[in-house]
Amino acid sequence: MAKKTWTKIEEVLSGKKVDKTVNIRGWIYRTRSSGNIVFMTLRDATGILQATVKKGNLPDKEFEDAKKALIESSLELSGIVKKDKRAPGGYELQVNNLNVINFAEPFPIVKDQSPEFLLDKRHLWLRSRKLTSVLKVRSTIVGAIHQFFRDRGFYEFDAPVLQPNQCEGGSTLFEVKYYKDKTYLSQTWQLYAEAGIFSLEKIYNMGPTFRAERSKTSRHLSEFWMAEMEAVWMDLYDVIEIGKDEIRFILQQVLKNNKSDLELLKQDYKKLKQISESEFPTITYDEAIKVLNEKEHMDIEWGKDLRTLEENKLTNHFDTPVVVTHYPVEIMGFYKPRDKNNPKTALCFDMIAPEGYGEIIGGSQRSIDVKDMTERLKAMGEKIENYEWYFDLRKYGSVPHAGYGLGVERVVAWICHLDNIKDSIPFPRTLLRFRP
Ligand code: 4AD
Ligand code: MG
Repeated sequence: MAKKTWTKIEEVLSGKKVDKTVNIRGWIYRTRSSGNIVFMTLRDATGILQATVKKGNLPDKEFEDAKKALIESSLELSGIVKKDKRAPGGYELQVNNLNVINFAEPFPIVKDQSPEFLLDKRHLWLRSRKLTSVLKVRSTIVGAIHQFFRDRGFYEFDAPVLQPNQCEGGSTLFEVKYYKDKTYLSQTWQLYAEAGIFSLEKIYNMGPTFRAERSKTSRHLSEFWMAEMEAVWMDLYDVIEIGKDEIRFILQQVLKNNKSDLELLKQDYKKLKQISESEFPTITYDEAIKVLNEKEHMDIEWGKDLRTLEENKLTNHFDTPVVVTHYPVEIMGFYKPRDKNNPKTALCFDMIAPEGYGEIIGGSQRSIDVKDMTERLKAMGEKIENYEWYFDLRKYGSVPHAGYGLGVERVVAWICHLDNIKDSIPFPRTLLRFRP
């Protein structure tokens, strides 16, 4: 006997199977019955399809099973594809065989449940159409990031997840018991990347990153994925251009691969396309403050960091992501070098997404001034001996170098037009949640 072949719902919806018999397997998305007919919607990873099960078209036992099967039951069925204008997607399956693989218990998720309930049931809510589309877009974005760097000759380089030092401030470190000692979960790949570039020159990575964020904002996760790059012989402006190209490349890949997902997520395709073809402006921190104080009538003192509120107001003035450079040294990581022309500012940048999605990239040139870094670390109360290995990198053939990190979930949230960053990752970890 010939091996059974299975058709994906997307193939049926493409119209290539009209009047043909197909075998489909998936789950019941919706179902209702009336007398001798059951109307079902089936789903698989590729789409949803209407199916009608009529008594007489299939063995009675199978018809009774169809009547009994609740939503999320898994099944295999075969039938003839018919064109039907009224059906979602324009096609309908007239079922003549149906085999229930698992009769689902009553599904706990029904309409209009609270976001907290849906997070408790995250393992089941992942099946929703919204999250399915988000996860498809996320997969495209992750693939695009790898492709972007590999196409440009970057090597993938891995750093340890357990790290003895901080890089982005001690207050957000996650402490881990390490045998008789203690260590921390990675806050960034960067410090180790600065060792890797002396052998590979241009490197990148994407990996889990941990920050004990005490704030409950719609942009912060405790565990997120950061995509970072580091390269020798590059300065601030070189890496800013790479960051802009990376974002445009990500957008182009999503536009190419996820048109129907963007539609389902109510994201404006044309607007994203426009951005993917635009230049992004670069302004300085001083200019940003000026825009905020003059055009938004705020009262921001020089030296203050730009918080969510300020970032959001700033993006009122731009249709694309905007890059802000030269933040005050005092509020920046110890490794960000002072600008010789204006030593109160650092050779660093943030890229801020439009429409309130916040900082999507943060990066800088790297300091080669061990004395300055030592003083800044001491001021933060750090033990200098933990950084001796890092300072070695400045002693043996030190070269100018720079890099940045992109917050994968921030980019997913922006591109998918999400209300909250939690929906950009399958199982979000936040201040208040690490389950399921
Ligand atoms: O700006 P950050 O802190 O930069 C660094 O960690 C550098 N060491 C990166 C580098 O130069 N290699 O973080 C980089 C990006 C931010 O712009 C933001 O998009 C994201 O990581 N990010 C977060 N995303 C979600 N939840 C959080 N708690 C995040 N913290 C940072
Ligand atoms: Mg930052």
